[in-house]
Amino acid sequence: MTILVTGGAGFIGSNFVLDWIASEGERVVNLDKLTYAGNPANLASLAGDKRHQLERGDILDSALLDRLFAAHRPRAVVHFAAESHVDRSIHGPAPFIDTNVVGTLRLLEAARAYWQALEGEEKEGFRFLHVSTDEVYGTLREDDPAFRETTPYAPNSPYAASKASSDHLVRSYHHTYGLPTLTTNCSNNYGPRQFPEKLIPLAISNALEGKPLPVYGDGRQVRDWLYVNDHCEAIRVVLGRGRVGETYNIGGNAERRNLEVVHGICDTLQGEVPREGGYRDLIRFVTDRPGHDRRYAMNIDKIRAELGWSPRESFGTGLARTVRWYLDNREWVANVKSGEYRRWIETNYGTRERA
Ligand code: NAD
Ligand code: TYD
Repeated sequence: MTILVTGGAGFIGSNFVLDWIASEGERVVNLDKLTYAGNPANLASLAGDKRHQLERGDILDSALLDRLFAAHRPRAVVHFAAESHVDRSIHGPAPFIDTNVVGTLRLLEAARAYWQALEGEEKEGFRFLHVSTDEVYGTLREDDPAFRETTPYAPNSPYAASKASSDHLVRSYHHTYGLPTLTTNCSNNYGPRQFPEKLIPLAISNALEGKPLPVYGDGRQVRDWLYVNDHCEAIRVVLGRGRVGETYNIGGNAERRNLEVVHGICDTLQGEVPREGGYRDLIRFVTDRPGHDRRYAMNIDKIRAELGWSPRESFGTGLARTVRWYLDNREWVANVKSGEYRRWIETNYGTRERA
């Protein structure tokens, strides 16, 4: 048996592939374009393992998708591939529409053609799991109830709009063609192998280099933080037992203000690699992100009640593990800070004023 994973060389996808092979032992064909965010080194521990096959390619390439479905006959698709960084979507939305919207459409088309030709148990058992985000629901005020699966979509960034659009396409393929889909909407992931453009790995890696820790606006925006291994487990559970056509919220039960997150990183690092005077004096408040969503929060009653999943890691234990991983893998960080990375840092932070 084989599953087809897209975007499995990125942050969550690579953690998922490693977790999947360790826990299920089932073969993975991993289709990844290897953009700036995709890194085969994330999967180095699987070198020579026949249960993993990395295919470099684009989900926009319908001919390639048809070939992969025909050659490997996957029993399921787990779709991670996406452009994933909000700030990049603000500087240039077009690739988000290409990959997240058109790419998802092409993948759905290829999956539908393949699935429709299946018969019996193979057809019954096939699943298309689409990985999405809490950002499709928009923003919350401090005392609003958390997002539920029934919360109306109100995406605010080009990234969120592209993911919302892909979610709607997935929904429509179930409703119109009966494709056995599942959609998961999760909160902010953190953990090993996250590209250091997102808040937590950026702050860890900057702090270790004695560089400023940029906090947008007043730093009081709230995110819910989900340790990536908890997310991987939740996806396995939804893929195994989720009800076809349903969507499931996945969260970490860990709402934190951004400033609290950065303080937590500073304090955890201080315990590991003490710095004279500590790390907090590296914090700089900088110009806010345009359209910055104030708060995300997830109600995870549905996945807990239906599938018995809840997160294992607290924010404290998850952050300690994450900091440890970045300390033990400084070479990984140095390798991903390529020319492209330096250009991005200049684009995003070069024009931001110190508030
Ligand atoms: P990432 O940016 O680290 O990885 C994305 C991967 O997709 C990369 O390996 C990249 O090479 C690949 N890719 C991009 N365009 C492609 C294309 N056209 N064809 C094939 N491969 C392509 O992203 P991530 O943080 O691992 O996120 C994975 C998924 O989870 C995304 O769909 C994202 O929207 C969703 N998500 C992420 C978070 C988070 O906190 N990171 C939260 C909620 C949802
Ligand atoms: P990010 O990791 O980009 O995830 P998302 O935008 O998907 O939530 O950002 C998390 C929060 O941290 C978000 O509110 C923006 C903020 N942030 C900063 O304050 N400074 C930074 O340098 C970055 C990258 C993010």
